[in-house]
Amino acid sequence: MKITKICCIGAGYVGGPTMAVIAQKCPHIQVKVVDLNAERIAAWNDEDLNNIPIYEPGLDAIVGEARGRNLFFSTEVEKAIDEAQIIFISVNTPTKTYGKGKGMAADLKYIELCARQIAKIAKDDKIVVEKSTLPVRTAEAIKSILDNTGNGVQFQILSNPEFLAEGTAVSDLLNPDRILIGGDTTAEGQEAIQTLVDVYANWVPTDKILTTNVWSSELSKLTANAFLAQRISSINAMSELCEKTGADVNEVAKAIGMDSRIGPKFLKASVGFGGSCFQKDILNLVYIAKSYGLNEVADYWEQVIIMNDHQKRRFSSNIVQTLYNTVSDKKITFLGWAFKKDTNDTRESAAIYVADDLINENAKIAVYDPKVSRKKILADLDYLESRKAEDNANAILSFEDPYEASKGAHAIAVLTEWDEFVQYDWQRIYDSMQKPAFVFDGRNILNRAEMESIGFVYQAIGS
Ligand code: NAD
Ligand code: UDX
Repeated sequence: MKITKICCIGAGYVGGPTMAVIAQKCPHIQVKVVDLNAERIAAWNDEDLNNIPIYEPGLDAIVGEARGRNLFFSTEVEKAIDEAQIIFISVNTPTKTYGKGKGMAADLKYIELCARQIAKIAKDDKIVVEKSTLPVRTAEAIKSILDNTGNGVQFQILSNPEFLAEGTAVSDLLNPDRILIGGDTTAEGQEAIQTLVDVYANWVPTDKILTTNVWSSELSKLTANAFLAQRISSINAMSELCEKTGADVNEVAKAIGMDSRIGPKFLKASVGFGGSCFQKDILNLVYIAKSYGLNEVADYWEQVIIMNDHQKRRFSSNIVQTLYNTVSDKKITFLGWAFKKDTNDTRESAAIYVADDLINENAKIAVYDPKVSRKKILADLDYLESRKAEDNANAILSFEDPYEASKGAHAIAVLTEWDEFVQYDWQRIYDSMQKPAFVFDGRNILNRAEMESIGFVYQAIGS
């Protein structure tokens, strides 16, 4: 099938960047990204590219090139479904907050809504692509909904999980380690797989495009995230042991990372991983394992989350303990609120939980993040429902300037590894703080010798 029209349901952190890159690399294909959230779509259509809703290095230029040519953002979901030959589903699949599987299983209500809408609208044969991260065997449910429309339309369902990481989404999409496409083993399934392979082959070398059956593809995505998060929890577990023994976790990470079987990436000890994916996907994996009665498998993976929660909690308790067991009415400056650098995304950021603990101890938190607004910070805290919104608003001071944020503070906590933090005039910051001036480096980005020579009491994760 020659593809000329693609649509993507969901204009979020995955749908937006992924479709922008497909449109840039395939000028012969019209790509429509649709979403129910009119505000988000309006932001994607904003003439000023600084205002597109997702901050990713390099994304503004790609949107600027393709938008209006063959890339369109719209709220007209039904029209886009009707026109498209390939429909990507890229809606959110958060952890369930109600009913069976609450707090563990993926909430598939948005996925099912999409399937029902496609079933209702489609008048000709379509390829439906699962781009969202889904529990293994979800394609079965989607297929059942689509095949029961009775209107004779033939659907092929493919799984094509996305492996981009936020902050590096554009380079990950332009130069992916692999593209994974799972489909039916039938002739029609194989034909659908080939159609999607041909789209990616416009810029991805074919030896990097891996095809599998649907279930392997769905499960590979959950497995990849579980393995990545496991590495972080593993090094974070060692970071606590390093602190007790005089070993330095950076040295340990380097030493083990030089073993080619282990490799150097994803061994950075931190205040804990955040982001919308790792916790959600591991909880989902744990739920799936339990639902098959595989309790040892479930417990094994759950430990990755338990360790991560411990890492966040011990970071905040250490701040309280070091500041003479009380932070009441003390100003503690947070450098960073995003869950990692180069993104404005704050979902599950460690900063939220550390702030929550410290506010419970009556601290005042002064936050500076180059890409996160006060509104977002307060929304993140309110979502926890630990206290009244008014109390969060009183406890959080927000600043547009890191030097202002640090003035009069008892301590600075580094929560995100933004590059600019390393470049600051730390002497100036020291001079403006209460003494002794403490720095708790949750990201291991500052230089201990320099910080100590200025006069800071410096503590970093894992040393
Ligand atoms: P997101 O919340 O940023 O975006 C999802 C969008 O879908 C929202 O804008 C929402 O309004 C829209 N939506 C929901 N239901 C809809 C419907 N019925 N019709 C139209 N629009 C609808 O989520 P995201 O971060 O882009 O994640 C999407 C999926 O991709 C998830 O399954 C996630 O696990 C997966 N994923 C995310 C990342 C990441 O880095 N964020 C990476 C890989 C995979
Ligand atoms: C992750 C996966 O990397 C990506 O493949 C998948 O598609 C979505 O989930 P993302 O969550 O966007 O991507 O960012 P990632 O770079 O994986 O970082 C996740 C969290 O782990 C961040 O809070 C980061 O700071 C933390 N991290 C990462 C560490 O603490 N140490 C590390 O060594 C690496």
